[in-house]
Amino acid sequence: MPRYDLDGQVAIVTGAGRGIGRAIALRLAREGAAVTVADIDEASARTVSDEIAAAGGSSLPARIDVTNKHDANRVVRQTVARFDGVHILVNNAGIGAIAPLMETNEATWDSLMNVNAKGVLLCTQAAARQMIAQGKGGRIINNASGAGKIAPGKDTPLGAYAASKHAVVALTRQFGFELAEHQILVNCLCAGIVDTAMWDLIDREIARRQGVPAGSVKAKAVAGIPLGRIQQAEDVANMVAFLASSDASYTTAQTFDVSGGLLPY
Ligand SMILES: NC(=O)c1ccc[n+]([C@@H]2O[C@H](COP(=O)([O-])OP(=O)(O)OC[C@H]3O[C@@H](n4cnc5c(N)ncnc54)[C@H](O)[C@@H]3O)[C@@H](O)[C@H]2O)c1
Repeated sequence: MPRYDLDGQVAIVTGAGRGIGRAIALRLAREGAAVTVADIDEASARTVSDEIAAAGGSSLPARIDVTNKHDANRVVRQTVARFDGVHILVNNAGIGAIAPLMETNEATWDSLMNVNAKGVLLCTQAAARQMIAQGKGGRIINNASGAGKIAPGKDTPLGAYAASKHAVVALTRQFGFELAEHQILVNCLCAGIVDTAMWDLIDREIARRQGVPAGSVKAKAVAGIPLGRIQQAEDVANMVAFLASSDASYTTAQTFDVSGGLLPY
């Protein structure tokens, strides 16, 4: 059942072909929004878009590489052509990589900063230009990470990832201030350990490095979550739906912890 009334709203969700982005796209569609399902993997974008259509929602699949400003601008244009506007952007696309900072090479650094940080810059610029032209405000919701607030520590070598996600928190605050006069609200989520392919990769890579069984790294991390269960993509989507709704109309430039109590602040 819909909880928020997003009828007439149009959303773009990046990285929506699987994992958290898919859950966000499905949830926003269930709330009544028309959703552009944007992903670098066009086939998965199409699958999720079909899922939305099968459930009675409106959706458009689109290929996007968030590191490319022409892609970002094109996806906004395609969305406007199909749905007559853009009201919500969810910057969700992201990648991870495991390496201690002392072993992090430039290629890894560049790809993480490009997708996770520059992607947020370019997609926000593209969508916000459209929202400003529409003159009716908008919502931009960034999917950072707990690693956007804390350093994950020596046993979880996600240093470059953490740097890129700290950048997302900073982009959220600054865009929030710069876009406030246009009533475009910019907020950010910091999730914990979400049960997706990304954490499977983290688990596999750290387990390999530490010489422990696959699955054990994730199990140990989950054991430290105060709410006692691994996070589901839908837990993140719940918060996105709230931040996209009229109930969140007096909140901007903020970062919200959605981590089952894992994050200290
Ligand atoms: N899984 C977690 O525990 C966790 C925790 C906190 C934050 N996050 C963040 O949530 C977001 C989604 O994570 P997930 O776990 O669903 O990951 P995932 O790997 O399952 O999905 C990421 C999606 O982004 C797409 N993508 C990758 N590069 C892209 C690019 N250049 N342009 C467009 N799309 C691209 C992929 O094709 C994929 O569909 C990421 O930003 C991630 O950093 C994840």
